[in-house]
Amino acid sequence: MDIKELVSKMTLEEKAGLCSGADFWHTKAVPRLGVPSMMVSDGPHGLRKQDLQADHLGINESIKAVCFPAGCAAAASFDRNLLYKIGETLGNECQAEGVGVILGPAVNIKRSPLCGRNFEYYSEDPYLASELAANEIEGVQSKNVGTSLKHFFANNQEHRRMSSSSEMDERTAREIYLAAFEGAVKQAKPWTVMCSYNRINGVYAAQNRKSLTDILRKEWGFDGFVVSDWGAVNDRVPDLEAGLDLEMPTSFGLNDEKIVQAVQNGTLKESVLDRAVERILTQVQRFEQHRDKTAVFDREKDHALARKAAGECMVLLKNDAELLPLSKTAKLAFIGEFAAKPRYQGGGSSHINSSRVDSAWGLVQENCGEYPNISYAQGYDTNTDQISADLQQQAVQAAKEADTAVIFAGLPDTYESEGYDRTHMRLPENQAALIEAVTAANPHTVVVLHNGSPVEMPWLDRVQAVLEAYLGGQAVGGAQLDVLFGAVNPSGHLAETFPKKLEDNPSYLYYLGEGDKTEYREGVFVGYRYYDTKKMDVLFPFGHGLSYTAFSCDSMRLDKDHMRDTDTLTVQVQVTNTGKRTGKEVLQLYVAPPKGEVIRPIHELKGFEKVELAPGETKTVTFTLQKRAFAYYDMDLSDWRVESGTYTIELGESSRKILKTAQIAVTGTSKKLRKVTLDTTFGDLMQIPGAAEILQPLVQAYGVTSDDSGDSTALGESTAQMMEQMLRYMPLRGMVAFGGGKVNYADAQAVAEQINRLPALQD
Ligand code: BGC
Repeated sequence: MDIKELVSKMTLEEKAGLCSGADFWHTKAVPRLGVPSMMVSDGPHGLRKQDLQADHLGINESIKAVCFPAGCAAAASFDRNLLYKIGETLGNECQAEGVGVILGPAVNIKRSPLCGRNFEYYSEDPYLASELAANEIEGVQSKNVGTSLKHFFANNQEHRRMSSSSEMDERTAREIYLAAFEGAVKQAKPWTVMCSYNRINGVYAAQNRKSLTDILRKEWGFDGFVVSDWGAVNDRVPDLEAGLDLEMPTSFGLNDEKIVQAVQNGTLKESVLDRAVERILTQVQRFEQHRDKTAVFDREKDHALARKAAGECMVLLKNDAELLPLSKTAKLAFIGEFAAKPRYQGGGSSHINSSRVDSAWGLVQENCGEYPNISYAQGYDTNTDQISADLQQQAVQAAKEADTAVIFAGLPDTYESEGYDRTHMRLPENQAALIEAVTAANPHTVVVLHNGSPVEMPWLDRVQAVLEAYLGGQAVGGAQLDVLFGAVNPSGHLAETFPKKLEDNPSYLYYLGEGDKTEYREGVFVGYRYYDTKKMDVLFPFGHGLSYTAFSCDSMRLDKDHMRDTDTLTVQVQVTNTGKRTGKEVLQLYVAPPKGEVIRPIHELKGFEKVELAPGETKTVTFTLQKRAFAYYDMDLSDWRVESGTYTIELGESSRKILKTAQIAVTGTSKKLRKVTLDTTFGDLMQIPGAAEILQPLVQAYGVTSDDSGDSTALGESTAQMMEQMLRYMPLRGMVAFGGGKVNYADAQAVAEQINRLPALQD
């Protein structure tokens, strides 16, 4: 049935009822009209379908499912196709399980390494986050299952997440925190968007008309429904008016009743309710009409994808003297509890009841013929930070007897979870001490890290290799063996900067804020935008990742050397595998703006491609850049604007390792429609085409410099330049004050009006 017709047949109570869940995970059915209920489930990196007791903190059991690499790991793949493939697989699992919407992906920006939910999020960079999310959404939705892009927006801490207000200026919101959502919404059209718990500049995300309606729908063209984060509704009727369509979970009828009353007493237009119901029903019907009854949740097959994915995500941070890959027959000591019981996912609503978990040590034991000389020592206990002398001693002994020690370290479950933030950036004390002790016994040491967010590495100089495995999903153990022994050539790159210490992070002074107010005072200088602009030393830069092979970039060509911001720039790069193994390179394109009048980061990521190359193979990679790649958000214009000037296109292997640069002169076409007043400075006036001619008579009438006595001297040729410099910062009204009585306010005002009529200042 046509949705509008269906809605017209519903009673007020039925319509109000449809705007909140039937229970924790289902929308309401209207059997009388054949409207089915639709199930939604978490997300993002696996299916958390709860059949029995429901909760949003991952406490109660859900069905056995496959845990893919968490967002922190998936993003490090820099691989759009992989995200699509994972999405497609999740979509199929949902079809098999009758789930209509999977609650993810989550694209909140990693403002601080401390955010407890960083493990679920992708990046400190909004372009990377939105590109990856768009592909995952497209993958899921290709199976006619919806996604819920979350948490919209500015939910960058767990501390007071349901009451805190994220305070930031419009430019910061647009360039960083909204941008992570914008690209994904525009490209992939998620069926739903989930609004966050927090407030934004004082207004709850659930009630934020500006973000939910003006930006999301009107500007970006979102046409799905907005669902509340679980319990995020603060005042149902204004929330509905602002653009929040579905409340989850159920409100036990209380908020439905409020909606009914508001319509009856005329405080809520019924058309607003109808609109929300239409939006919800459209997606319910969409899922219903495309049910795939043949879909099968093949856990073994999906586990194999989880292993492949985990291998694509791991980042080889350090590999001195090519210690890695290891030989399978070498005498090795696997040290650390995470070798036997890997930490592979985070805590909270994303927690998957994994169908099986592979540990590196478990697989070695199962295949001892293949790995004949590996020993294991627990090294530390994840239930405590306390050093165990016994465990440490056994580990040191094992390391002494081995050619190479491989320490499986990282953050225990209690360190990182939805619901609270970390308080520091260190590894637990017992693990840090273990690394010191083992490296003293055997300098040939590799550290494999399991963590959802950066850690400090005071021991970095003492170890020969570091492999960042992040929270790699249930197949992480197999993927670790694949990478450690070279079956898979590592190709992950960091989607976030690892600072040397927490205090270096740009949000350090303001993170978590005061009471219920968190000011984002670092503005757009998030992550590498800050570290790189400040030229600070970091542990590992954004985009960093090593390989077992080597690549060279021999040329970068732009298809033009000047353009208007309405044109498209094509950049072609040639990349060659100069090493001996097949490998994948992640080419990153940064754009560096000219020194203009706007304060901007030194460069920003605007393109990336992952390419696979056999030894000796060369490929040409093409990037296209459009206006947004050069633009900043202009708060006066309330729009994106490109400053005219020479921009540098940088091709990098990381944000700090730029291989090639080229320049492009860009002419900005957006007009600065700032009207001229008596307070406008001469410097600004002179930028307006045609203004100089209008100002000429006035300047001639002024024609003077004034000293303290107020005496005037005629302006000579030689002082014209000085005069021009001084005039630059003088407002138009200064002509009256310093004009020795030759210019009056009416003259100055007339000039201002004449300039305002110039074509350059018209729409
Ligand atoms: C989380 C969401 C999740 C929802 C349902 C909330 O606590 O913030 O990400 O989708 O619960 O479990």
